[in-house]
Amino acid sequence: MTREAWVLGAASNRFGKMKESGREAGARVALEAIQTAGIEPKDIGYTFVANAFGLSEKQAHVGPLINTALGIPEVPSCTVESACSSSSAALHEAFVHVAGGFLDAALVVGVEKLSQLDTLTATSYFAIGADYPFESHNGATFPGLYATIADAHMKRYGTRREQLGAVSVKNHLNASLNPHAHFQKPITMDTYLESPMIATPLRLYDCCPFSDGAAALVVVAAEKYPNPHTEPLVIRASARAGSIADMHDRPDLTSLPASQRAAQTAFRQARVEPGQIDFMEVHDCFTIAELVALEDMGFFPRGQAGAATAEGLTARDGKLPVNPSGGLKAKGHPVSATGASQVVEIFEQFNGLAGPRAVPKTSVALAHNVGATGSSASVHIFGRR
Ligand SMILES: CC(C)(COP(=O)(O)OP(=O)(O)OC[C@H]1O[C@@H](n2cnc3c(N)ncnc32)[C@H](O)[C@@H]1OP(=O)(O)O)[C@@H](O)C(=O)NCCC(=O)NCCS
Repeated sequence: MTREAWVLGAASNRFGKMKESGREAGARVALEAIQTAGIEPKDIGYTFVANAFGLSEKQAHVGPLINTALGIPEVPSCTVESACSSSSAALHEAFVHVAGGFLDAALVVGVEKLSQLDTLTATSYFAIGADYPFESHNGATFPGLYATIADAHMKRYGTRREQLGAVSVKNHLNASLNPHAHFQKPITMDTYLESPMIATPLRLYDCCPFSDGAAALVVVAAEKYPNPHTEPLVIRASARAGSIADMHDRPDLTSLPASQRAAQTAFRQARVEPGQIDFMEVHDCFTIAELVALEDMGFFPRGQAGAATAEGLTARDGKLPVNPSGGLKAKGHPVSATGASQVVEIFEQFNGLAGPRAVPKTSVALAHNVGATGSSASVHIFGRR
């Protein structure tokens, strides 16, 4: 059995630094998403939580705590972990259960609180998402690993610093219009070029920040909610893929095969081609990641996403708006909240709630979320009823 599944409600807090704990923030956005959907907490049949680094708050197993705060302690929950793609993986689980007929309504909550850690400790925590004995234990960090990808891309395709900078300037501009964003000030190319080097060739403004944040989605079976209060997102594709975890074992450093595979599956499921996507949220944990994602998913030929970005094709009012939310780079990257927050942006765009960052066309949208350096990836495609 498969039946149509919708994202009926969505909510996010402002990313950055949260005063409240992860469990409190998770419960708060969950309630907001449920209220947006126009349903009651008691309608939820299962809560899928993403909270990969909850241990840094000395708290695992937040699902029952969130459900208890919502007044539904009897509802089952589980934590889904897939590094930075944890909440898109949780959305996939919710979709499979709802479309498969096992649940009529599911809650997805992604939450992370890391601001209690200093940069060194947070970097070490994150590095556990790579292959610990082979990569992290030998000093590899995520900025370092993505710098290797950037270096390879620059050498093979002649990708230039200013093209990476164009991703950053665009995403900071979009974030300046997003009340959920960690950074809300535009930057200039000079600010980008003069920013300190973090891991050559990546500078401060190539990197996403460490952010706290929470985002939640309500996924329902369309047939059970004939009169929705919102413009629901029809989940036309929910695809996941994997690839070799270690970068040193991959044949090509300029591509993430899991993104390619997940996108191909998603386009097949949704029966659409890249040219039919109106706008998208992609995983730009580092500026190079946005370019690689656009090339992996077939939006631009290899080596050409940088020039396309510099020409403005991926700007909010360009031919193919990419990351109108500001992306991970500027909206922020609270790891386990990121995948769900990409869908919050698409929900707000579809429902006319994006204000000055509204994109011109909102019929078909894509969300792309990566775990670690691409050992996992999710691609979702959404349409209108
Ligand atoms: C880039 C990075 C090393 C900077 O950390 P840092 O040097 O310790 O920076 P601090 O936290 O001390 O912040 C210093 C300033 O830079 C700003 N800042 C921090 N990170 C920033 C970023 N990524 N982009 C823009 N500004 C940033 C801070 O807001 C602060 O500004 P202020 O002085 O006006 O308050 C850190 O953000 C990082 O490691 N990011 C990558 C995270 C990561 O790997 N995520 C997983 C991806 S797969």
